[in-house]
Amino acid sequence: MLQIDKLTRRFGDKTAVSAASFTVREPAMIGIIGRSGAGKSTLLRMMNRLIDASEGKFVFDGLDVTALTGRDKRAWQSRCAMIFQQFNLVPRMDVVSNVLHGTLNRRSTLATMFNLFPTEDIHRAVDILARLGIAEQAAKRAEALSGGQQQRVAIARALMQDPDIILADEPIASLDPMNAQIVMDALRRIHEEDGRMVICNLHTLDTARRYCDRVIGMRDGRIVFDGTPEQLTTGVARDIYGAGADFSEAATSTAIETLDRQTGRSKVPA
Ligand SMILES: Nc1ncnc2c1ncn2[C@@H]1O[C@H](COP(=O)(O)OP(=O)(O)OP(=O)(O)O)[C@@H](O)[C@H]1O
Ligand SMILES: [Mg+2]
Repeated sequence: MLQIDKLTRRFGDKTAVSAASFTVREPAMIGIIGRSGAGKSTLLRMMNRLIDASEGKFVFDGLDVTALTGRDKRAWQSRCAMIFQQFNLVPRMDVVSNVLHGTLNRRSTLATMFNLFPTEDIHRAVDILARLGIAEQAAKRAEALSGGQQQRVAIARALMQDPDIILADEPIASLDPMNAQIVMDALRRIHEEDGRMVICNLHTLDTARRYCDRVIGMRDGRIVFDGTPEQLTTGVARDIYGAGADFSEAATSTAIETLDRQTGRSKVPA
């Protein structure tokens, strides 16, 4: 069980996240939505301990994540994988080595320096790439892949950690609609097949509605909505994005949906 209790982060005078609280009782796929600057990234970064909370607590299966230091904190970061908008791969390194870097926390500095990976890890990396439909790219440099392929490599690297949670910060913001759909499908499948918790910051309402079991809306650092996609009405969306919001950003009809209409698809594949 995941419990976020009044988690707060200040940067000088600015409160980026203000007393955010929510509980997740069983692995779910959760979308966090809100305008630019709402505090979505800051919330995820506190959960992964990339940044420290100013106040409040984050407890996962009885473990007080906010209190961890040193080795325990690194161990947590390996249970809680993070995926970013810009993929954060090593561009000139081959795909399989990028994926193997997901095991970094487990390996000695010397082995890392010389890129020495156990054979079983290499097999596992290739299996994970195959699962994501990109095994044939394994030997290529990461920079030679398309954005959607690179993001799948980043997901493969995350899976290599065998994480309990995957945190994805705007994983499709740099992708075209077709690749956005492939990446969101992959995250959804990982949640359903592996039972992993996936928490995903998303810019557009409809992606959250379509892929997530639960949606959390943030505005000015506060959680202003927490419910099912069905409860996310236009009125609620206005609360989240602000009355005068340009709904083109919130995208009542996203590119993914347009693509769905074109391809005649209406449901997330199981
Ligand atoms: N390191 C930092 N130093 C100072 N202010 C920061 C820092 N990180 C975030 N902020 C501020 O905190 C607020 C929340 O930022 P955050 O990046 O969490 O928003 P976001 O919802 O992820 O936005 P976006 O959709 O643009 O990614 C913003 O006002 C931002 O300027
Ligand atoms: Mg952000």
